[in-house]
Amino acid sequence: MLRRKADWAKAIGWTDEEKKLLALLDRSRVPVHVAIIMDGNGRWARSRGLPRGFGHRAGVESLREVVRASSDLGIGMLTVYAFSTENWRRPSEEVGLLMNLLVEYLNREMEELCANGVRVNAIGRTADLPPAAVKALEWSRAKSAGNEGLLLNLALNYGGRAEIVDAVKGLVGDVVAGKLAPDQVDEKAVGRYLYTTGLPDPDLLIRPAGDLRLSNFLLWQLAYTEFWLTPVLWPDFRRLHLLKALVDFQRRERRFGGLHNP
Ligand code: FPP
Repeated sequence: MLRRKADWAKAIGWTDEEKKLLALLDRSRVPVHVAIIMDGNGRWARSRGLPRGFGHRAGVESLREVVRASSDLGIGMLTVYAFSTENWRRPSEEVGLLMNLLVEYLNREMEELCANGVRVNAIGRTADLPPAAVKALEWSRAKSAGNEGLLLNLALNYGGRAEIVDAVKGLVGDVVAGKLAPDQVDEKAVGRYLYTTGLPDPDLLIRPAGDLRLSNFLLWQLAYTEFWLTPVLWPDFRRLHLLKALVDFQRRERRFGGLHNP
């Protein structure tokens, strides 16, 4: 996959605090793949005495800013948890609003996303989303398919366990059909049956809103991912927080189960 070089020149209009963080960033070690659990929309709305939908709407603005900044900073791919397989349990009005926001976001943002070379993709059981969402996703995927900048991966009707179940079904089907020998089943082979086939595992997982759990997100892929947690609610999450996460990430020593560097 072709990675766009970090476009630091675009970092005009950054605040002094952001510029200080930017100066600490090593351009050659920006994470290739960042994953985000966009959490805290409901709490953000509640703290203002507003219905939950206001929190989701504000969350879309955070997404816009983070996508823009990720693209400018040369991050290769961003996987955001937008709707889980469990989110169907929410009131139908809230589910409907989230789906409308998705369609609205894609319709409104595609032009700018394409102008910035962003490629849109979705992971999850997306065929089971409402028809308008399926259509908007297909259109966005097709329209941005040739782009070579940031990959924006929207996790929709996504569940980590559902993904593993789907992968096992695909893999077992190929074994039964004689396309894959049982002794060819290894970690790499399993990875090829996941929704994220062909993508490197996330280097960094960002979880706003203070909860300390994975919430069924990328269960296989997060095995060696660095976590960055913040109490900031997603609608308040800005590029400043992304920069803080990136600087902190670059201070970590990743060992992947090996030894400390001497
Ligand atoms: C979790 O917050 C958030 C979600 C279930 C939805 C995330 C969706 C957005 C940020 C909207 C933008 C998405 C797209 C694709 C345009 P919560 O409601 O669980 O918050 P709470 O834990 O505070 O109640």
